[in-house]
Amino acid sequence: MNNIPKIDTAPLIAELWQISVMVNDLGKEEILESSSEELHSIFIRLDELAALNVDEKSTDAILKSPDFNYLMDAISRFRFLYNLKLEIEKAKSLLESSNPWKTLRNFTFYPNYLQLARTEYTDSGLEPNDCVLFLGSGPLPLSLIVLCSEYGLSGIGIEQDGKRASLSREVIARLGLSESIKIIEGNHFILPLKISCDLYMVAAQAEPKKEVFEHLAKVIPEGSKVSYRLYEKGLRRVLDDSSLFELPSGFEEYLRVQPEPPVNNTVVFLKKR
Ligand SMILES: C[S@@+](CC[C@H](N)C(=O)[O-])C[C@H]1O[C@@H](n2cnc3c(N)ncnc32)[C@H](O)[C@@H]1O
Repeated sequence: MNNIPKIDTAPLIAELWQISVMVNDLGKEEILESSSEELHSIFIRLDELAALNVDEKSTDAILKSPDFNYLMDAISRFRFLYNLKLEIEKAKSLLESSNPWKTLRNFTFYPNYLQLARTEYTDSGLEPNDCVLFLGSGPLPLSLIVLCSEYGLSGIGIEQDGKRASLSREVIARLGLSESIKIIEGNHFILPLKISCDLYMVAAQAEPKKEVFEHLAKVIPEGSKVSYRLYEKGLRRVLDDSSLFELPSGFEEYLRVQPEPPVNNTVVFLKKR
């Protein structure tokens, strides 16, 4: 049996409401450009809450609390934008750095990306020179950078936001990886590409999940491998609602790798039927 302690959900829900009220009215640019200590503390506090080990019953009670979706919309949006802000800041500091690789390796989440990439490379059976496509590559395409530099793969990143796509191209050039990683501006509907890929990866933040996977199921060749990351453990499952979508029948799940510290994400491997 598991030893997860029962928690009192009422104060937790009250704290989440208090946070959601504080972040709900903030504009996108206000978050992306903020230098507020208070917002930073809120972000850190949400991360601490996400790491709480919460039993299934309490998780369900939180999920079923009144107006929970409204509450979560505000919190998810804030966490997404604040994460993005951290990636943009890291990308810009790397461009200005005299030692860009050192600056990159100092990024708080670098060890997580290294471990995730090892899982994704090994368990999808990739080999050097294979091509990996990453949907939702962002301003700092760390997953592709790690996969291509550590394992000799070539990569294609797809990013829907023009500014983030061009910042990521600068980052890749600064790291000397322009030969192996290409960034295309667009979203899932840009697929299929003419070039064939050995693994299609979907970012944890790529949205809308249902539409993304339904489109992939329609356009990628039979037998193609796909992987995605989700959060299944503790309160993280609630705060990062990525595990709640239903996979289209065109995919068969063949492996699920549970996270080991410092990684928080489960990695799911699929094959197109
Ligand atoms: C913050 S990044 C995370 C990627 C992370 N840096 C990595 O390398 O694993 C997430 C990006 O996904 C992009 N995105 C979300 N949904 C997308 C979609 N359907 N197609 C393309 N880009 C998408 C967002 O614009 C955002 O810039």
